[in-house]
Amino acid sequence: MSSQFKTEDLKKAFGSFATGVAVASSHSNGFTINSFSSLSLDPPLIIFNIYKSETDHVDFLKTGFFVINILSDNQKDISKKFATKNKDKVASTSHKISSNGNIIIDDAVGHIELSVFQQIDIADHVLVIGRVENLNIDDDKKPLIYYRSRYQDLK
Ligand SMILES: Cc1cc2nc3c(=O)[nH]c(=O)nc-3n(C[C@H](O)[C@H](O)[C@H](O)COP(=O)(O)O)c2cc1C
Repeated sequence: MSSQFKTEDLKKAFGSFATGVAVASSHSNGFTINSFSSLSLDPPLIIFNIYKSETDHVDFLKTGFFVINILSDNQKDISKKFATKNKDKVASTSHKISSNGNIIIDDAVGHIELSVFQQIDIADHVLVIGRVENLNIDDDKKPLIYYRSRYQDLK
């Protein structure tokens, strides 16, 4: 069956759903994502996807742990930097290392540390379901918003 819509309209429709912005990080790398979503409170699960052609998902997930860093409205530059393959991106960003060996970016709205609960391969993506192990949220920070390919602030 042929599609009854143009690819550019599909992109616009998907981009019309405003999201927050996060950096998914693990033992050595991190990359910008907006596919994060909560999945379940009990058990405490989240989901996001990795585009396999761009990110080495096997290396990223190899320790079985990772972090979702929820970016704040003054971290647009970090979002842009972690959407590149800049080899220096982690080293040039203020961060800590958790007891599980994960990169935690400083000054974010917060972070959620997770263990890998399940991985599902779909076309050129892998859906990653994570189980929440630790978290820390700063009530005083506002999130960075992404809408139709542009960064926005929460008014
Ligand atoms: C706003 C935004 C959202 C993104 N969301 C995702 C995502 O959900 N999953 C993904 O695999 N890549 C996503 N990307 C693309 C990655 O950030 C990009 O491919 C990055 O360069 C990968 O870095 P790496 O090669 O060091 O892993 C997004 C980029 C931007 C700017």
